[in-house]
Amino acid sequence: MKFTQLLRSAAVVAVMALSAAAAQAEDTIKVGLIAAFSGPFADYGKMMEAGIKTYMKEHGDKVGGKRVELIIRDTTGPSPEIAKRLAQELVTRDKVDFLAGFGLTPEALAVAPVAEQSKTPMIVMNAATSVVTAKSSYIARVSMTLPQVSYPMADWALKNNIKKVVTIVADYGPGIDAEGAFKNTFVKGGGQVLESIRSPLRNPEFAPFVQRIKDAKPEAVFVFVPAGEQGIAFMKSYRERGLAEAGIKVIATGDLTDDHVLAAMGDATLGVITSFHYSAAHDSPENKAFIKRFAEVNPAAGRPNFMAVAAYDGIGAIYEVAKKLNGKIEGDKAMAILKGMKINSPRGPIMIDPDTRDVVQTVYIRKVEKVNGEPYNVEFDKFANVKDPK
Ligand code: PHB
Repeated sequence: MKFTQLLRSAAVVAVMALSAAAAQAEDTIKVGLIAAFSGPFADYGKMMEAGIKTYMKEHGDKVGGKRVELIIRDTTGPSPEIAKRLAQELVTRDKVDFLAGFGLTPEALAVAPVAEQSKTPMIVMNAATSVVTAKSSYIARVSMTLPQVSYPMADWALKNNIKKVVTIVADYGPGIDAEGAFKNTFVKGGGQVLESIRSPLRNPEFAPFVQRIKDAKPEAVFVFVPAGEQGIAFMKSYRERGLAEAGIKVIATGDLTDDHVLAAMGDATLGVITSFHYSAAHDSPENKAFIKRFAEVNPAAGRPNFMAVAAYDGIGAIYEVAKKLNGKIEGDKAMAILKGMKINSPRGPIMIDPDTRDVVQTVYIRKVEKVNGEPYNVEFDKFANVKDPK
């Protein structure tokens, strides 16, 4: 072969390789899932991944004529800097069509400017500080907000003759939101907050705080801690320091009695009242089907929690967008479809508010009870169509 021929055929091969790569890129819808998969919040990413896999198993991995590709990135968090770097890489190098995940508020806030600049739709599957959705017009939230689930708890407490409380919340965005929303409704309704305690986000030591709660002699303690191990630690101190015997009830957002760790908390949680958007015990055909499919697809994952459900709904929203856009994802068009979208979630019907891009949903009041020998958050009252009270 002559040199020029050789060059030409090499060029042909190169062009072929390039167009194959381009064709492959065009044939996929890429979803970058950013969350903690290691460290103290590792369950957040794992629950989200398991929820997404459940949906993809049910609906197949093709939509709008394309294959959906999930690209998973571990923040090891809470690590806003790592989350931001991962998002930048996903957008510029992997050219993802969607950013998704975000268990922790600081990580969602750090990524918001990346979504905004690149016009990449960002589906928040947990991070629940009210302000998150205001940080970019490319964010839609399918999970909850702390004010949304906290003020119904205050309402319920007042109606049930609880008039004096101490609040304790994790000292960062969602905790401060929970404290504010609870207090606002509670005090307006004639209740009294004797003391407001904030515990550190990293490695809190609850015993001294729990003693302070006991000494203040409230009728109840209102609690927000991020889902998982902190709930176990708080309830352990509550029991050990004899608050139940002192007649101090626990009222909380459902993060405290997270379905995924509830069984590990043992009998310490029995009788705890919480307000939340999802319970694994939610009695509906959609939830029963979800629970069954989740266990089939993720046999080692344990009981699904609210993050698994938000991720299941979030990928459902992505499929809906992809279907409507025939697989050609553009940020502005995607957001127009997400605004006002209704989803028949395992938690009950939800909607993405067209003005705020935040989730509108039913907030349930639940009590921890044993069902067939296992503790569950059993729903017994509800507030319909609750918005984040922005
Ligand atoms: C948050 O960081 O926004 C967050 C984390 C865990 C929760 C709720 C909110 O359970």
